[in-house]
Amino acid sequence: MDKKRKETKMDRRGFLTRTAAAAGAGAILAGGLNKSKAQTTQKSAGAGKLDDINVGIIGVGAQGQVLLNSCLKAGQSIPGLRFKAVCDIWKFNREKGVKTLNAYNKAKGFGDVAEFTDYKEMLSKQKELDLDALIVATPDWLHAEHAIAGMNAGLHVYCEKEMSNSLELAKQMVLTSRKTRKLLQIGHQRRSNPRYLHAINNIVLDSKLLGRVMQGYGQWNRAVSEDIGWPAKHALTAAELATSGYDTMSRFRNWRWYKTYGGGPIVDLGSHQIDIFSWIFKTNPVSVIASGGIDYYKAHEWYDNVMCIFEYKNAEGMARAFYQVQTTTRHGGFHEAFMGENGTLVISEVPRDGNWLEKEINAPDWNKWVKKGYLKEVSTKMAKTKTTNVMLDVRVSPAPPKWPLPIDLGALPHQPHLHNFFDAVRGNAKLNCPGEIGYETAVAVLAVNKAVETQKKIEFKPEEFEVHA
Ligand SMILES: NC(=O)c1ccc[n+]([C@@H]2O[C@H](COP(=O)([O-])OP(=O)(O)OC[C@H]3O[C@@H](n4cnc5c(N)ncnc54)[C@H](O)[C@@H]3O)[C@@H](O)[C@H]2O)c1
Repeated sequence: MDKKRKETKMDRRGFLTRTAAAAGAGAILAGGLNKSKAQTTQKSAGAGKLDDINVGIIGVGAQGQVLLNSCLKAGQSIPGLRFKAVCDIWKFNREKGVKTLNAYNKAKGFGDVAEFTDYKEMLSKQKELDLDALIVATPDWLHAEHAIAGMNAGLHVYCEKEMSNSLELAKQMVLTSRKTRKLLQIGHQRRSNPRYLHAINNIVLDSKLLGRVMQGYGQWNRAVSEDIGWPAKHALTAAELATSGYDTMSRFRNWRWYKTYGGGPIVDLGSHQIDIFSWIFKTNPVSVIASGGIDYYKAHEWYDNVMCIFEYKNAEGMARAFYQVQTTTRHGGFHEAFMGENGTLVISEVPRDGNWLEKEINAPDWNKWVKKGYLKEVSTKMAKTKTTNVMLDVRVSPAPPKWPLPIDLGALPHQPHLHNFFDAVRGNAKLNCPGEIGYETAVAVLAVNKAVETQKKIEFKPEEFEVHA
């Protein structure tokens, strides 16, 4: 390497180390109206040749591909990223990842991505690869191993949810992030979604349009589906499976349903939405009760349907939130609802399932919030309903009008969270979901399985949500 290039490399590394340390792990952006917009459009303040972030990825299955696409999609890519290494034990998926990355690298004039089956080998090549950041999109049971190794190798880590299927390992992830001073972002991407930031921070928490919110609701319902398959000619051999900790190809592909590898649908899907409950109630739950069972997919180890109720105690008093995950009906799709004395927020990652507010019949007028740009005007005939008529029998009152949220997220709902991570690596943002928040969510979500198993109410102590060495 010539002297000039070497200096540039050292400047880049020094710049990223200093700025990421300044961004710090553990704080959340407040996300006011302007801030939430700023978050998604933020450009690198360290732009120029110093802002190339060298990235590696472990796990390029379904979600790994979504994340790559969210980073690199033509015309909408996150600026300043250079993917230099990809690791996956399964050649079939690895080749897809390599293809995506090499097409991008070619267009940018970068070299081919380095390809690995063993993450340890990838990290041992750090001198040549000069990675700054690592994306971990392997199955949940491997997150801690991969994220901790990445941070110990000097990389900032974006790790998919569920942070870990073991609380002890999740704790080790947070402690490693603190010890190494490396950023650890957990993939609860709603925390960076501008629609959620606006609806929760601006409308519910700051402006209090809903009044006191006492009830939360969330669901993720899916229709009956078969186990995930694989092309027979691309199956891993028995020896390859065994080396990687899997006993059959089916368990390797359907890891979510098995206790060694994942936490079942409640953890896989519920973690995203139960995470939102504590954001909106500004506190962690005090208890959870739950019921569920292996009632349909008899060959699986995890519950295929779960219903649970969390209780929260905040400055305004008690609040409760019901959550259900169903895998034998798609009824209602996936969304969350937060019900206050003046109205309800119905929100989802997909606008079809939720992207609006419903006003209670006697709540104060919301038109001023339309003028302020917080809500869109009600477009249906319902807007003309006399909502101040106190004589109206509420038992037969018409469905409340829907006031749409003004923010459109486009086709890349994971991108703002990745953007936030890379902005934090550059020192231009605080992480929206640092390991500490991922840990709090893991404590609440993993307890649901325990509540189903024991059929007992689980009570939480505040200190259970804290990570100490
Ligand atoms: N944030 C979200 O909305 C979201 C959505 C889907 C999945 N996820 C998460 O993403 C992660 C991956 O899920 P998925 O659906 O892509 O699963 P997947 O099975 O499709 O992909 C996992 C990939 O990891 C690879 N892998 C397994 N063991 C490995 C090892 N030891 N080293 C390297 N590679 C290994 C597999 O070969 C596969 O390519 C999970 O943690 C999941 O919970 C998050």
